[in-house]
Amino acid sequence: MSFTVAIDGPAAAGKGTISKAVAAHFGFAHLDTGLLYRAVGARVLAGAAPVAAAQALDPVDLESDDLRTPQVAQAASEVAVIPEVRAALTAFQRGFAKRSGGAVLDGRDIGTVICPDADVKLFVTASPECRAERRFQELLGKGTAVTFDSVLADVKARDARDSGRATAPLVPADDAVMLDTSELSAEQAIAAAVKIVGTARR
Ligand code: DC
Repeated sequence: MSFTVAIDGPAAAGKGTISKAVAAHFGFAHLDTGLLYRAVGARVLAGAAPVAAAQALDPVDLESDDLRTPQVAQAASEVAVIPEVRAALTAFQRGFAKRSGGAVLDGRDIGTVICPDADVKLFVTASPECRAERRFQELLGKGTAVTFDSVLADVKARDARDSGRATAPLVPADDAVMLDTSELSAEQAIAAAVKIVGTARR
């Protein structure tokens, strides 16, 4: 039996941490759909054309180690505005959502476009400053040379592009449960999400 959990929200709101933990808790599979756009963005940075790169995407590409850089994130956000790129990635995401045993997909348009019939929809958010601080600490931890101001500027630029695009913009689905993680620890945010999903599962 399929059971789909859609988790959307802006960059660095805690979607990834929450999605992984929810999937582990319930024994569901997890797809970070941002990786699809990052893999296309990485190919474009290497010289490929965006739509051809999306059409040729192989799930193995998602395992590449270099998809987590700020440059790839910006490239991902840029290719994500192209309707043909989004269309090329839709079938894979919908197939994943319907796999038996349950699936958690996190992204920007899962509850609105990819899986409008998802069993549970969460919209995870936090203030831009709070998200930039988390991403800044994460990048520092990896030894990446960045400043807080540049990370905040990146977060705001991606927010504007992700929310302002014409196709599948970042907006909460009407029936999404909002989860603001600004004042929550990772453990508290995970506990809140597990409770929401558990209630919907009964
Ligand atoms: O979640 P992320 O930061 O890895 O996503 C990278 C970019 O990919 C993001 O800025 C916008 C795009 N994206 C999207 O448009 N739709 C999704 N479902 C997931 C990501």
